[in-house]
Amino acid sequence: MIKKKLKKNKKYNKILITGGSGFLGSHLADELSSSGYKVYILDNKQSSYLKKNQTMVICDLLNRKKIDQIVKNIDVVYHFSAISDISEANKDFVKTVEQNILSTVYLLEACVKYKIKRFIFASSIYVYSEYGGIYRSSKQSCELIIENYAKLKNLKFTILRFGSLYGRRSNNNNFIYNLIHQAIKKKNIIRNGSGDEIRNYIHVIDAAKCCKIILNSKYENSYQILTGSQTTKIKDLMKMVREIFNKKIKITYKKKTNEEHYEITPYSYSPKFANKLSNEDQIDFGQGLIDLAEYISSKNED
Ligand SMILES: NC(=O)c1ccc[n+]([C@@H]2O[C@H](COP(=O)([O-])OP(=O)(O)OC[C@H]3O[C@@H](n4cnc5c(N)ncnc54)[C@H](O)[C@@H]3O)[C@@H](O)[C@H]2O)c1
Repeated sequence: MIKKKLKKNKKYNKILITGGSGFLGSHLADELSSSGYKVYILDNKQSSYLKKNQTMVICDLLNRKKIDQIVKNIDVVYHFSAISDISEANKDFVKTVEQNILSTVYLLEACVKYKIKRFIFASSIYVYSEYGGIYRSSKQSCELIIENYAKLKNLKFTILRFGSLYGRRSNNNNFIYNLIHQAIKKKNIIRNGSGDEIRNYIHVIDAAKCCKIILNSKYENSYQILTGSQTTKIKDLMKMVREIFNKKIKITYKKKTNEEHYEITPYSYSPKFANKLSNEDQIDFGQGLIDLAEYISSKNED
């Protein structure tokens, strides 16, 4: 458990976040900017959350030449860009290998060339489970490749294995966003599965804080699990959402189970030890759900 509020790490100033226009990357950008780091966001789409003190670089990770120029003056790289949706990744294996693995290798080459002080990678708790298909394989490949760069080319790294994130700026691909969205728009939540599946949810702001904490040098060359402390059965989560909407929501469980996903949070499958990291003042799960419901309601979308 992290107790002290960490100050800016003076060893680092310029920080690049790939995928910084996305859900987690944009929250991390805000977290780092608020601590005084100079944040560069690299993404192939414009960030809707860009702050005045952040620099946006629109670039595809597969553009090696441009990546080389960008990485040149950076201290730390958070590599968060990816095809992050498991179903989308499984639709096109070649694209997933390009976007998730090849782009990582291009980026690693530039990081080694310019002696980047730390390479921080967004992996998943799926990484050594049997689930997640090509998405999981791509994360596992990247972890192994990063280990090669560490051993053979002296790269300093931190691997972050995230559980299920939720919070503002997510979209319908995100499980909790999707179910609250269904509750608001259709007053009926359909769940493919029994509801007995167990998940550890972490609020995206708590995750972003942990991502900042690991800039401390004691997290160099380490593996961290960021799953939060809220272990919840899907059924209980559904009940919480029903309560939030004064029980005016119908919940339907459909028999078809989603085989891409795991039944419980898969610690037991992991052959490689990772430390579990959490910040002290975690956002209360119920409050986090209410906040997300407010956010979705205010977006005015169908
Ligand atoms: N959200 C979760 O619950 C979760 C759980 C485990 C791991 N992760 C990992 O964390 C990271 C961030 O997840 P997220 O939920 O913020 O995803 P996201 O989809 O919201 O963000 C990913 C961003 O990467 C960008 N991107 C993708 N391919 C690119 C390319 N070739 N060049 C430039 N930009 C590109 C996208 O435009 C997007 O803005 C991902 O690597 C994801 O696999 C997320």
